[in-house]
Amino acid sequence: MRLDGGGAMGEVSPMTAPTTNPMRHHLLALAFTLPALAHGQGAAIFKDADLALGEKLLAEHQCAQCHTRQVGGDGSAIYRPAGRINNAGLLRGMVENCSTRLNLQLFPEEVTAIAAVLNRDHYRFKP
Ligand code: HEC
Repeated sequence: MRLDGGGAMGEVSPMTAPTTNPMRHHLLALAFTLPALAHGQGAAIFKDADLALGEKLLAEHQCAQCHTRQVGGDGSAIYRPAGRINNAGLLRGMVENCSTRLNLQLFPEEVTAIAAVLNRDHYRFKP
């Protein structure tokens, strides 16, 4: 999709400027808002995650063992990228919930590390 369609026209003729300006403002607002949202919810929050730590914690807290009891197999079927969890922020939130519910007392960077591993192996949310 091209967003720059008639943009240059408004600048050439001062007469058309008042009608094109609101549109340009609208597009500018969008251009600044979308990356901001993506930053809050995208996989960018996993950029500095310690994946080795996440793998260790996943093994240590027996996440897969319990999930296997729920869904069988290796337990990974519990991770449903097409389900309710559809962005990186929600994924991290879910790990946080599980951690709180199970009273694991993880540090925030540990929660992020676990979520980052799940994202890499199962959810694959993009930045
Ligand atoms: C005592 C059992 C148990 C343990 C231990 C457990 N979970 Fe879960 N987990 C569940 C159940 C049950 C669900 C499904 C909940 C639902 O669908 O509402 C779930 C769902 C999830 C989901 C959401 C899956 C999705 O896409 O909807 C994530 C993420 C998750 N668990 C992460 C973890 C992590 C990380 C750990 C280890 C730190 C962990 N869980 C440990 C029982 C457990």
